[in-house]
Amino acid sequence: MKSFKGRPVLNDVTFVVKKGSITGFIGPNGAGKTTTIKILSGLLRKDSGVVRVLDEDPWDNPRIKQKVSVIFTKLPYPPNDTVEEYLNDLNSVFHGDLQSLIKEFNLREHLRKRISQLSSGQAQKIQLIAALIKNPELIIADEPTANLDPKARLEFYDIVREMNRKMGVTFFISSHILSELERVITHVVFINNGQIVAQGEINDVESKLDSSEILILVREKEKALEVLKEFNPTLDGAYIKVSGRMREIIDLLDDAGVEVLNVRKTSLDDVFKKLSSI
Ligand SMILES: Nc1ncnc2c1ncn2[C@@H]1O[C@H](COP(=O)(O)OP(=O)(O)OP(=O)(O)O)[C@@H](O)[C@H]1O
Ligand SMILES: [Mg+2]
Repeated sequence: MKSFKGRPVLNDVTFVVKKGSITGFIGPNGAGKTTTIKILSGLLRKDSGVVRVLDEDPWDNPRIKQKVSVIFTKLPYPPNDTVEEYLNDLNSVFHGDLQSLIKEFNLREHLRKRISQLSSGQAQKIQLIAALIKNPELIIADEPTANLDPKARLEFYDIVREMNRKMGVTFFISSHILSELERVITHVVFINNGQIVAQGEINDVESKLDSSEILILVREKEKALEVLKEFNPTLDGAYIKVSGRMREIIDLLDDAGVEVLNVRKTSLDDVFKKLSSI
């Protein structure tokens, strides 16, 4: 539970992040993501409830700062420092293997640039790699890709995936944009209005919430609606939305001679939209 000036902003927030997972923390603007992340990283104090990060209370806890890295949308560092100064400063605190990281992630070309001269994508890449200096068990990131173009987002998530696979780092990443996060996360926690509305392994959450919803685009819409009558079809833009097993539904349309132009299962984005409107 967390209130600001008597107004509750986190109310029913209970969730677990599995070790070794890449967990997406998804919710619309104002849902409480940043507040939750600040509490998890020990920057903000909860009002009540139990918070455990790597089995410890993160508030005022230097051991957690040692084992957890936090990334925000922007690089929180004096803009006139060079990348090299920034990384060296961090390295002098945490004694990591900076040279290997510079080599592994091809940072040499950026070392002499000032923080203010980096593009948003470069800055986030540097921030992500800098997060590794302390050899953390967990990296918590609050909308790390918010300012990035689609290509830079994919690159960012490629590095996340690599760090997760190679180094076993657990990730907890907030976002309100799901499409690219969907490809990298193994688990998801949905927050809306200060409450957790769903959580779990990504496939489970998808299937629990909307298992059987399918969107179909056909050439002859009226005919398809007639064929699928028993499934109570509805319209979603140009698509017909039905609940049922995909194979069975396509077969029925095939048998009736209805040409199917496109089929898709409802995406996590749709699930999210639905949850956000509750
Ligand atoms: N320091 C504060 N004082 C008062 N209210 C605050 C404070 N910080 C956050 N809030 C309120 O708490 C609610 C949750 O904010 P929070 O920043 O956690 O949302 P968020 O999910 O991170 O949203 P966004 O996607 O826009 O970043 C909002 O209504 C916000 O106005
Ligand atoms: Mg936020």
